[in-house]
Amino acid sequence: MLKLGVNIDHVATIREARYRGRGFGEPDPVAAALLCEAAGAHGITAHLREDRRHIQDRDVWALREKIQTRLNLEMANAPEIVDIALKLKPDIVCIVPERRLEVTTEGGLDVVAAEKSLTETRKKMNDAGIEVSLFIAPDEQQIAASARIGSQFIELHTGAFAEEFSKAESGKRKAETELQRLISAAQQAHALGLKVNAGHGLNYENLRSLFRVPHLVELNIGHSLVSRAVFAGLENAVREMLALMREYRENSATS
Ligand code: PXP
Repeated sequence: MLKLGVNIDHVATIREARYRGRGFGEPDPVAAALLCEAAGAHGITAHLREDRRHIQDRDVWALREKIQTRLNLEMANAPEIVDIALKLKPDIVCIVPERRLEVTTEGGLDVVAAEKSLTETRKKMNDAGIEVSLFIAPDEQQIAASARIGSQFIELHTGAFAEEFSKAESGKRKAETELQRLISAAQQAHALGLKVNAGHGLNYENLRSLFRVPHLVELNIGHSLVSRAVFAGLENAVREMLALMREYRENSATS
């Protein structure tokens, strides 16, 4: 069954918009995580950014203590955050690139360029019992490098597909091209023994098209769930997404 990891960063974004630097405030991303679990989410994802723009240190410690499903810590491969992860012991870390001025994680990780330091971090995490995922573009070289460094998972960046999908009809051909890249990438990764997650920009409209990508284990979804939650409530938003995800068949159409 395709799993849903709910990214709760945007709950913290709303809190920080009013309570930045205060050490308290609403809405509480940990309470949100517990509601997502109650609605059937298989895991919770939180990104502790170096600039702490949304999720704060206290959030990740409270998540570690309170959630019952899997904690996926998104993080940059930066010494300070690596140290926190080794102490926190999430079930899995997803290593992402970080740029201070970006609105959200923009591109995928350049695994080829950072092969040595990512291998070191991968080993440290695995030695601490933490699985490793790398957030990468659907690119042949990046997937080959991810396998070389010994990562357990990759998370395919679906942002380009989602972006093209959201454009008017003229963009649909480009969305198909992006989809084909994701399909090839998932096939390549699977053949190399990597487990395949996907995420970024996924929503209730583009999800069905994504289901043509084979071998998916988990989707990490945040913004569209929190957006729907404003109108429908978080539990309903999660349940609706899970209902859609039940249509996914492992090794489904690959063309
Ligand atoms: N996966 C990764 C690695 C991300 O950085 C993000 C965005 O924080 C997501 C998934 C979720 O993306 P979205 O909020 O667009 O659903």
